[in-house]
Amino acid sequence: MRRQAVAVVLFSGLICVLSEICYTKSFGGSSVVCVCNPTNCSDIGPVTAEHGRITFYESSMTGERFQRSTADFLEDAPRADIDLTVNVLSGTLQEIIGFGGAFTDSAGVNWASLSPDLQKRLITSYYSPEGLEYNIGRVPMGGCDFSTRDYTYDDTEGDFELKNFALAQEDIELKIPMIQFAKSVSEEEIYFYGSPWSAPAWMKTNGKTFGMGGLKGFPGDQYYETWAKYFVKFYEAYRDRGVEMWGFTMQNEPTTGYIPWKWQTMAMSPYTERDFLKKNLGPALFKATNHSIKIMVLDDNRVVLPWWANVIFGDAEANSYAAGVGVHWYQDNLRSASALESTHRNHPDKFILNTEACEGFQPFATAVILGSWERAESYAQNIIDDLRHFVSGWVDWNLFLNTQGGPNWVKNFVDSPIIVDESAQAFYKQPMYYALAHFSKFLPRGSVRLDDTLVGSKRKLSVVTFLRPDKLKATIVLNQNDSAKKVLIKDSDGKSFMIEAGARSIITTLR
Ligand SMILES: *[C@@H]1O[C@H](CO)[C@@H](O)[C@H](O)[C@H]1NC(C)=O
Ligand SMILES: *[C@@H]1O[C@H](CO)[C@@H](O)[C@H](O)[C@H]1NC(C)=O
Ligand SMILES: *[C@@H]1O[C@H](CO)[C@@H](O)[C@H](O)[C@H]1NC(C)=O
Repeated sequence: MRRQAVAVVLFSGLICVLSEICYTKSFGGSSVVCVCNPTNCSDIGPVTAEHGRITFYESSMTGERFQRSTADFLEDAPRADIDLTVNVLSGTLQEIIGFGGAFTDSAGVNWASLSPDLQKRLITSYYSPEGLEYNIGRVPMGGCDFSTRDYTYDDTEGDFELKNFALAQEDIELKIPMIQFAKSVSEEEIYFYGSPWSAPAWMKTNGKTFGMGGLKGFPGDQYYETWAKYFVKFYEAYRDRGVEMWGFTMQNEPTTGYIPWKWQTMAMSPYTERDFLKKNLGPALFKATNHSIKIMVLDDNRVVLPWWANVIFGDAEANSYAAGVGVHWYQDNLRSASALESTHRNHPDKFILNTEACEGFQPFATAVILGSWERAESYAQNIIDDLRHFVSGWVDWNLFLNTQGGPNWVKNFVDSPIIVDESAQAFYKQPMYYALAHFSKFLPRGSVRLDDTLVGSKRKLSVVTFLRPDKLKATIVLNQNDSAKKVLIKDSDGKSFMIEAGARSIITTLR
């Protein structure tokens, strides 16, 4: 493959790291990974556009990574496989909040396993202009499966006042240091949101953080009041350490608490969420944050939409505390993206955010596949589907996992866009990482989706267009077909150009 942008970067004044878009390495997957080690490190770098022309960035199964090219607008309209008319004045669709990943305990363990210089590179790979320019971070509140142990912030039986509430070593030594560095390299405000997996065991019907069970008592009661206070304590503890939360999800995957689940969970129905929100959580968090906190309901698969949102938002009081709906992608095959669209149509003032997704979670899937292009396609396809159905941003699961897909105390190993290889003192940027880059680097917060009309058979092509705050238009094309495709883009202001989408490729254009 062609090499681009070879530059010598002096990193922290200690070591010289050679930087280029991709130092490829093949592990036998359908495509390659890009390596970062103490001497060589792959970096995308900032993206640039040329005024009055079209800029293309392309990545593909054959190994291209962010290959840049430019072209002029066309005088006439040649034949193409697909014609796409973009209504450049349609700005009434959803606005982008952002893209991000989760600062899990496991991400922290992997981060800490590399040298200080590579630790910095791990974070800049996601949060700086050299990397994905992420502007969202999810922060699990206490232990989850991607921890090395099962814990909460207050395991003292009967401590309803939460006098013994304390952040864990994982927060202080791993998550907060990573977050602080992310904040220092990000050019935009990072929106952090907390998500709980389980209340302390003593507060629950089954006396355990995992398995089948929920909070004792009923919304409005002592247990729910204490649980709301727990959110406030977390908010204050992070704020005291310099990390202000932008939002919270009410409960990670509340539906899993109705079955004998293997790791931390807590059952909540939409009726419980509605009543907990208006009687306890909403008032407590609004008071602590001067009404600025963004509370998201659901944080689970879309299979229960729009019903779940209707139950909560249908109640005026609960509605007044809720900002949006968090969705996960794990059962998307059971319910099409139209569920998202109907949720939006019923509640246009609430945003929808993809709050978690990962590959390799399926029962018989290999957790980590180094270099899988299919998984990059799966990410890109899901993001385009979501964006075309009123989702405002997409937050990935673990920022970094090890080569096994962990650590995970219940061995629920999965994949991640960056895999850390401690023994080689290196990390690998997976094709999924570049798939995310094709969105996160081009759709800044405040970008607005533009409506479009497709003419021709799609034949495994997906596309979405946004108008950015700087007035540039970004179109992302995913071609999952084994043959190249010509896509003629006609902007409704009269300008047109051709995108030549190679076989199995992702292209982002700016104009
Ligand atoms: C770094 O990259 C150069 C040029 O591609 C290569 O020759 C060298 O072996 C690489 N070093 C390491 C440690 O990967
Ligand atoms: C609370 O928010 C309101 C409205 O945004 C603002 O006017 C007020 O100054 C804030 N109060 C504090 C204590 O920050
Ligand atoms: C891929 O493109 C070819 C050529 O246009 C077409 O015949 C084929 O049906 C497409 N494959 C799929 C799965 O759409």
